[in-house]
Amino acid sequence: CGIVAYLGHQEACPLIIKGLKRLEYRGYDSTGISVYNDEQLQIYKKAGKVAELEKTLKGKKIHSTIGIGHTRWATHGEPNDVNAHPHYSSNKKLSIIHNGIIENYSSLKKELEVKGYSFVSDTDTEVLITFIEDIKSHGISLESAVRQALATIEGAYAIVIMDEENPDQLIAARKGSPMVLGIGEGEFFIASDATPIVEYTDEVVYLNDEEIAVINRDEFKIIDIENIELDPYIQKVELELDEIEKGGYEHFMLKEIFEQPNSIADSMRGRLDAKNARLTLGGIREQADALAEANRIIIIACGTSWHSGLVAEYLFEEFCRIPVEVEYASEFRYRNPVINEGDVVIAISQSGETADTLAAIELAKSKGAIILGVVNVVGSSISRASHEGAYLHTGPEIGVASTKAFTGQLSVLTMIVLSVAQRKKTITESKFKELLQELESIPDKIKKVLDSNDKIEYISSLFKDAANFLYLGRGYNFPVALEGALKLKEISYIHAEGYPAAEMKHGPIALIDEEMPVVFIATRDSSYDKIVSNIQEVKARKGMVIAIVTEGDVLIPKMADHVIEVPRCDEALMPLISVIPLQLLSYHIAIMRGCNVDQPRNLAKSVTVE
Ligand code: G6P
Repeated sequence: CGIVAYLGHQEACPLIIKGLKRLEYRGYDSTGISVYNDEQLQIYKKAGKVAELEKTLKGKKIHSTIGIGHTRWATHGEPNDVNAHPHYSSNKKLSIIHNGIIENYSSLKKELEVKGYSFVSDTDTEVLITFIEDIKSHGISLESAVRQALATIEGAYAIVIMDEENPDQLIAARKGSPMVLGIGEGEFFIASDATPIVEYTDEVVYLNDEEIAVINRDEFKIIDIENIELDPYIQKVELELDEIEKGGYEHFMLKEIFEQPNSIADSMRGRLDAKNARLTLGGIREQADALAEANRIIIIACGTSWHSGLVAEYLFEEFCRIPVEVEYASEFRYRNPVINEGDVVIAISQSGETADTLAAIELAKSKGAIILGVVNVVGSSISRASHEGAYLHTGPEIGVASTKAFTGQLSVLTMIVLSVAQRKKTITESKFKELLQELESIPDKIKKVLDSNDKIEYISSLFKDAANFLYLGRGYNFPVALEGALKLKEISYIHAEGYPAAEMKHGPIALIDEEMPVVFIATRDSSYDKIVSNIQEVKARKGMVIAIVTEGDVLIPKMADHVIEVPRCDEALMPLISVIPLQLLSYHIAIMRGCNVDQPRNLAKSVTVE
C-alpha cells in the first residue's frame, strides 16, 4: 500500500493525488483521501485506481491545506469503496490511513462493540481509529491517545491521523511498515517512500519502528512509544525526479528493461576496476572477514530476489567453496532454523521492506547471525536492519515485475562473491581478472540483446495465446528459467513453470504436446550437450521450442522452432544476459494480451504484510 500526507500552505488535494500516482506501483485495489473542508473532516474514496478517485473529485470545491491519502492493497476485507482508506473513527472526528495489519483487531473490536461502538467496514484500520477515539474521549490529547493505543496493539503499521478538532496537526507512526517525513519550507510531507516527496524537498527523516511524528504547521517532533523525545536525523535524498518518470517509454517496465546497460554499470561504478584487477565494496568492511570465514551462508529473500539468491548459491559454491542455503524468507522464519556461530546471512531485497524478509533477518539476528543486506532502496528497513551490506545503486524500480533490480542483484552478488574468493584465495588471479573484465563488458552485451527486441516481439506474437509455458535451464541458467516463468505469470497471467531441464522427465514431460511452448535457456556452457538432448526430447513430443542460444550456435537452430541469440559470456555471468530476452518476451506477450504490465492485478511492488 502507499500513503501520502501533507500539511502546509499548498492545496493538499492535487498534491496528494499526484503523490498517490507515484506510489500506485505499491498497491492499487482502492484509493482515498481525507481533507479538512468546510470546517469538517471529509473522506472521498473509491475502489480501483487513483484515476477513479480523481473522477470522483472532479468539480468538487475542496480547499484544504492538510490531507491524508492512500492506495490500498487489500489484506482485510475485499477491495471496495467501504473498505478503502481513509477511515473515520466512529464519531467522524478522526480520520486515518494505515498500511500493515493489526493482529489483535478482532478482540479489540469486540471490546469496543461492548462499549457501544459500531463499525461500517471490515477493516482492522477502523478498529484502530475507533480505539484511539475511545482513549481520547477521556480528555486525553490525540498525541497521547495514539501513543497509548499503539502500545496496546499487536501488528505492523504505518499510520497517519487527522483530527477535526485540530486541523493544524498530523500524527504519524510506524512499526514494520516504511514511512518518510519530508521537511519543506513551512510544509511537511509524509509518504511510504521518498518518490512523492522529492519534487518538493530533499530533506527527509526516515522514521524508525515505534516512532511517532507529531507534526504541527510550524514545527515537528519525533517521540517514541514511551513519550521520550528523539533527535530527528535529517537526511538528504538523492533521488532525481526524472529517475521516477517514464522517460519516453510507454511503460516503466520497458524503460527499466532498456535501462539495464546503465543500471548495471551504475551498480559497478566505483567498485569494480578491471584494469587494475581491483574490487572494492565500501559497505562490507567490518564483516568482510566474517563473510570470508563463514562456515555456511544462508541467503534469505522472496520472489525475484530469491532467484538471484539461487544464482549466488552457485557462484559462492564454485568460487568460494562455502556451502550456501537459499531460503524463502517466509519458510525460514517459521521453521525453527538451525543457525550456528560463524553463519552469515545475506538478505536480498529490492524494496528493502518485504515483511517476511525483514522478520527472517530479525530472527537470524536474535540467534547471533551476521546480516548482510543486498538492497536497492536506500534507507529502507532491511538496509537499516542489516549489519553491513551493498546497495544495488540501480535507481528506483517502479514496474511491479522486477527487471533491473534482478540484474543489479546479480551484479552486486557477483562482486561480493569475487571479493570473498580473492580474500580466500579460492580463485586464481587470472580467473579473477578475467571475470572482472567480463563483468565490465556486461552492459555492452546487454545492449546487443536489446537490439533483438523486434525479433522477440515477433516471436511473442506467435505465442501470445498459449495457455501454458515451460521454461527450462541447467546450472546457472536454471534460476533464469524460474525467473522467466515468474515474469510471464506476473504480467501476462499465462500459467508458466520453470524447471531444471533434466527434471523435465520426472513430470512436466507429460504436459508436452504441440500446444506447449518450451523456452530453453541453452547458451554455450558446461551443460550444453545435456541441454541439447533435452531439446530433442521435447521436439520428439512435438513441443514448440524457443531457445536462447549463444551467437554462432549452429546446432540448436536446426532443432528449435525459434532462436534468440545472446553474446558469448562466461557461464557464471550468463544469467545477467540470458534473462533479458525473457523479460522482453513476457513484456510483449502481456502487452499483446492487453494486460497492465506496470500494475499487474493482485500484485504489489513492496509486500509489507506477511
Ligand atoms: C513482490 C514483488 C516482486 C519481488 C518480491 C520480493 O512480490 O512483486 O517483484 O520480487 O516482492 O520483493 P523485494 O523487494 O524483497 O525484492
